[in-house]
Amino acid sequence: MKNPQLNKNGELQHLLGIDGLPKSIINHILDTASSFVSIGERELKKVPLMHGKSVFNLFFENSTRTRTTFEIAAKRLSADVINLNIAASSASKGESLLDTIDNLAAMHADMFVVRHATSGAPFLLAQHLNDTKQHHVHVVNAGDGRHEHPTQGLLDMYTIRHYKKDFSNLTVAIVGDVLHSRVARSDIHALTTLGAAEVRVIGPRTLLPGGLEQMGVRVFTNMNEGLKGVDVVIMLRLQNERMNGALLPSTQEYFKQYGLTPERLALAKPDAIVMHPGPMNRGVEIDSAVADGPQAVILSQVTFGIAVRMAVMSIVSGSNA
Ligand code: CP
Repeated sequence: MKNPQLNKNGELQHLLGIDGLPKSIINHILDTASSFVSIGERELKKVPLMHGKSVFNLFFENSTRTRTTFEIAAKRLSADVINLNIAASSASKGESLLDTIDNLAAMHADMFVVRHATSGAPFLLAQHLNDTKQHHVHVVNAGDGRHEHPTQGLLDMYTIRHYKKDFSNLTVAIVGDVLHSRVARSDIHALTTLGAAEVRVIGPRTLLPGGLEQMGVRVFTNMNEGLKGVDVVIMLRLQNERMNGALLPSTQEYFKQYGLTPERLALAKPDAIVMHPGPMNRGVEIDSAVADGPQAVILSQVTFGIAVRMAVMSIVSGSNA
């Protein structure tokens, strides 16, 4: 089956997920992001790569980091950015997602950055744009349900590469609510594609989906066992908003079993880095002493996210129909 993200020349036309993305494209995105960062570690210069293009941010779910960094990235690429206020839009009057998209496309949108609670919503939009011959309009997935969060996965890979250089000798542990996490899915696909030596997931049985071993990961239900000797720890938020019924005895009990404390972090390699996609629940999945400690690179992830989103948008908008 044709990869729906790629055009007939194998170029990235939409970014819908990391699953199925060739290693060469992931590396191209990371290298392009690197060229934007090296312009200046803090000051990313404005470049005219998307001058005259309109980027519509469509966030049907809340966001702090992703929406803001997409907006900053688009402005650094000289695009015009329109943040649709979903609560005040006609979507709240019952307009369908596809009708909303067609109307915005009629306003000469060039790119939709979409976050939606329904897994597959960005795929549906991309398919609709292709079916209606609007090939010049691109879709970037900013997180769909529990499916994927590809730009978070890419900025996580950028961060790991920045601190650790080479994936081939790394053991990476992803800890927590994997069942509801789109970040975990994108990270697992990216890490296995980039050839990480070992990818582990750690969590209670009730928060681990089936089929993890088939994705190429080692599963641990004991946090202390799973953290032994790892180079990278990626902590996940408990996704309470996606849980149906009680999957945990209590958040206190969860912290006792799976919270990342300084004592537990000492089981990882001494130079291990600690990551978290945010928003963090301090005292639930991570102790403040770790979140604010010397091994945490959580705020660097946010900063790198701007360059990575610049790379994704410039590459996608430069692909031919
Ligand atoms: N990591 C992440 O997606 O954060 P936001 O929900 O704030 O965008």
